[in-house]
Amino acid sequence: MEREQAKELIRAAFRARTFAYTPYSHFKVGAALLAKDGRVFTGCNIENAGYTPTNCAERTALFKAVSEGVTEFSAIAIVGSLEGKTNTLITSPCGVCRQALFEFTGPELEVLLAKSETDYIETTLGDLLPYGFGPKNLEITPE
Ligand code: THU
Repeated sequence: MEREQAKELIRAAFRARTFAYTPYSHFKVGAALLAKDGRVFTGCNIENAGYTPTNCAERTALFKAVSEGVTEFSAIAIVGSLEGKTNTLITSPCGVCRQALFEFTGPELEVLLAKSETDYIETTLGDLLPYGFGPKNLEITPE
């Protein structure tokens, strides 16, 4: 992806991170999912006293988009760090989020794992989830 566009998507992920609800882990994550129509859907992680209902930033963004009728995506930017700290490590999506994204994008989704707007790794969902299992395996063409 072109540098300016990457910067913009990462900036949107940082903005979304400010809304993370993390009273338990204090680890705040933001994601910005770029749809093929050019719209950007952002998400943050939302924790829960019951722990397991916690939703990751990536799935928040994905579910916001799908629930508004948008199902085609070209890229996602992800940022994460402990509250009050800067990103020393990249935050890579958890296995559940990789699978959730794969359902809609297959291996092609571009993934930006960012420490800052200029310091990021550009990879793909196919690299993060090789031989992913998806609708094609069930011989299903999603509507
Ligand atoms: N988390 C995300 O939102 N995305 C990731 O890619 C990794 C983990 C959240 C879940 C939980 O609220 C917190 O980070 C610590 O695991």
